[in-house]
Amino acid sequence: MDKFVIRGGNPLVGTIRVSGSKNSALPCMAAAILTDEEVVLENIPQVRDIETERKLLVAMGAEVELGYGRAQHRTTISCRTISDPTAPYEIVKTMRASSLVLGPLVARMGVARVSMPGGCAIGARPIDLHTKGLEMLGAKIGYEHGYIEARAERLKGAHIVFDKITVTGTEDLLMAAVLAEGETVMENCAREPEVTDVAALLTAMGAQIHGAGTSTIEVKGVEKLHGAKHRINPDRIEAGTFLVAGAITGGDLLVAHCNPAHVTAVMGKLEECGVRVEVAGKDLVRVRGDGALKAADISTEEYPGYPTDMQAQYMALATQADGTSTVTENIFENRFMHVQELVRMGANIRVDGRTATVRGKTPLSAAAVMCSDLRASASLVLAALVADGESILDRVYNIDRGYEHIEEKLRGVGAQIRRMGNVFQGKREPEMAAL
Ligand code: EPZ
Repeated sequence: MDKFVIRGGNPLVGTIRVSGSKNSALPCMAAAILTDEEVVLENIPQVRDIETERKLLVAMGAEVELGYGRAQHRTTISCRTISDPTAPYEIVKTMRASSLVLGPLVARMGVARVSMPGGCAIGARPIDLHTKGLEMLGAKIGYEHGYIEARAERLKGAHIVFDKITVTGTEDLLMAAVLAEGETVMENCAREPEVTDVAALLTAMGAQIHGAGTSTIEVKGVEKLHGAKHRINPDRIEAGTFLVAGAITGGDLLVAHCNPAHVTAVMGKLEECGVRVEVAGKDLVRVRGDGALKAADISTEEYPGYPTDMQAQYMALATQADGTSTVTENIFENRFMHVQELVRMGANIRVDGRTATVRGKTPLSAAAVMCSDLRASASLVLAALVADGESILDRVYNIDRGYEHIEEKLRGVGAQIRRMGNVFQGKREPEMAAL
């Protein structure tokens, strides 16, 4: 099992490149199910979750050629021959976003069998809103042996109002509605850039969508979709993570190939902490952490509010700020897995329900820590970058799920970080692959 060894103390200086968004790539890969023609996706990140989705699509009978190392990371997907519209438990249990195939499979094949996701480190994360929306579009939903089975001759347009804002729920039902008969109106939709990204691909495939990126999306169903080529958005959470890395290490970092418009909430919060952050170009943000950090509160909200996926990273920064910061997690019920590990490194954090109170500044000392979920793991990397001594981070396959070559990128701007154990990312599969 891979580990990271990180020696703290170096300010990060230089230019660090952001990869394509995992959370855009996953729905866009699923969208390829909607056509029997080839879909070409550029800027796909080389992360474990993309490999998991490749396995899922291939298991259904699709042909997927991941384009790592090729120009533009060009990935091609052909779902001409889907033979088995099933997302098996073995795959779904390692990645909940597998539920994104539900809508496209019902829309294209008339049937989908998707394992119910089961538990997750950060919360229950049910997909009841996905299935409720499909029922409104006319699908018959059954539950058997831990699987959801959805069937429909042809889905019919409907007026859907989401009880809660759900990112993949919005994407899943958008992908179902584009081939439904008639018009669909969806209200209380997620406005995340990843929704806009998959809507752009669907439009390029011939779908008729209006309002993606707002809370009301209107779809006019079409008979058929054709192939298309689409470039995936930069990963706004990776960009935000690197901005925090520049701030926490007191560095001077240029975060390149990002979309500054997608990280405004994080940039605003860093400025409130006394960090100098500025847009330095159309896809470039500069962060300088050359002064003392001031405490500031965050409360996670749906986009364009402060993102839940940046909550753990901010908490690491707050341990280095003078004063008391409160961190309120409103999206998931169990997203403080990083707290105990940060406390073991010397942080002063108390959790009460959905709010963590961080008292800083506390010097952090290097320790052996355990990575849990993806973003909690990123938080531990950030803490280790400023801790006194050499930290060992175990189970870094959690980080490999959503950060492409993170140790190489950080080493490139001065971090003392190296990977121990099996080498992932395209070379040898870690023994965790079976999980
Ligand atoms: C997406 O997850 C992201 N994953 C998550 O990123 C992100 O944290 C989350 O959105 C919130 O921004 C992908 O896009 C692949 P939700 P998703 O449905 O869609 C509840 C990462 O680190 N809910 O918006 O699964 C749910 O329990 C990952 O990259 C229901 O109750 O999240 C949660 O409390 C982690 N019923 C809230 O809604 C449903 O049917 C928001 O969840 C669906 C969701």
